[in-house]
Amino acid sequence: MKMRSNPGTELFAHTASTQDEAAADSQRVAPSQSLSARNRRRFLKGGMLAVGATAFGAGLAPSRLLASQDDNSASITKGDIAILRFLQALETIETDLWQQYSELGGTQDNEVSGLNGGNVPYTQALQLLDGDMPQYIHDNTDDEISHARFLSNYLESIGAAPVDLTPFAQLPSSKADGARQVGRLTNLTQLTIDTSFWSRYRSITNPDFDPNAVFAQAVPSLNVGMHTAIPRSNDDTAGSVINPDPTQSTFPDLLKAIAFTAGFHFAFIEQGGTSLYPTLAQHVTNLEVLRILLSIGPSETMHFQTWQDKAGNATPLTVVDKTNNSSVTFTALQNAQGETDPESLNGDTLQANLIMPEPTHFLNPKFGPVAIIRPTSTKLSGAQAAVNSLVQDGLFRGQKPLNNPELVKVLLQLAEAADEARRGL
Ligand SMILES: [Fe+2]
Ligand SMILES: [Fe+2]
Repeated sequence: MKMRSNPGTELFAHTASTQDEAAADSQRVAPSQSLSARNRRRFLKGGMLAVGATAFGAGLAPSRLLASQDDNSASITKGDIAILRFLQALETIETDLWQQYSELGGTQDNEVSGLNGGNVPYTQALQLLDGDMPQYIHDNTDDEISHARFLSNYLESIGAAPVDLTPFAQLPSSKADGARQVGRLTNLTQLTIDTSFWSRYRSITNPDFDPNAVFAQAVPSLNVGMHTAIPRSNDDTAGSVINPDPTQSTFPDLLKAIAFTAGFHFAFIEQGGTSLYPTLAQHVTNLEVLRILLSIGPSETMHFQTWQDKAGNATPLTVVDKTNNSSVTFTALQNAQGETDPESLNGDTLQANLIMPEPTHFLNPKFGPVAIIRPTSTKLSGAQAAVNSLVQDGLFRGQKPLNNPELVKVLLQLAEAADEARRGL
């Protein structure tokens, strides 16, 4: 497809065209009528767009289609496409992992989860965090499927190829009841979960301004060794006593720990998307592509906010997992008091219900602290940083050869192109 070769000239052409049209409007119609006249013109342009879309399919230059979408928008650049392709690939990764959670722990219907019936002990153990967990897991999965599908369809509509990660779906499924036996892109059984997002959002310190700041882990042991967030087989749910009323069921500590690990992993994944979208949005040129990023990104934030609220309901527990040769300890975060200040690392500072973002430094300290998403710098939350954090999370562990270097390589190549995109206005 045609890319912008001379952004300045093209932008000027759009602006001049809009000004000419506005001037013509004011000359042809009385002021009271001009609005309806403009609306009519926009309607006509909508019609042209539909015709253009058909013509595009017939091989007409896409730049004409794009130009007709919005007079104030620059055409889609190579950088925009790189960003969209990376996000489509990452949403495919997200879909893969959420699908696994949904098959085992989500509300079971044919919208997302298939008809495998789920894993009843795991689903009920997740409800120790909140009775709505199965519905939330189902809906988060539904959202990720929609993100990946939309981005793929949009890329095709502008003549760009979506990324196909299907050849990398080689990891085995859980053997526990409920899981489909299909190849997976991600491994949820050997995770190392960075839970520092917890204190980052409870702190005045912004990692973009203080890269050396240390943020306390909500669950330090999850950030060490390997932990499973799903039952690997029915052995991991054995010993559960299931009652139709989940509040009357009892579970072995290992299954509780697996459910709580999932709760923190949900929040870890979604805080990543929360920072990634606003970071990449700063590199977008075309207004419609910017609208896509600004519209999907906050849905990741809605997920994150929900999950960090639920994870805070984990109850105190220490469990040794012989399979992963690791142990995990959950504490009563509800009993913690106060906000985190890694600038001093003082205090008991992980209070569970402080889920609104603490105001933090932004742009210049002279403006005062402000409640924002952070980080939003390419270095800390750009595309490559996002891929590296998923690798460190252990999501790709277990591929042959070790850590699936080919998949990671492909993701990093896409990420590099996305991070190199520059706003071209
Ligand atoms: Fe997503
Ligand atoms: Fe997400």
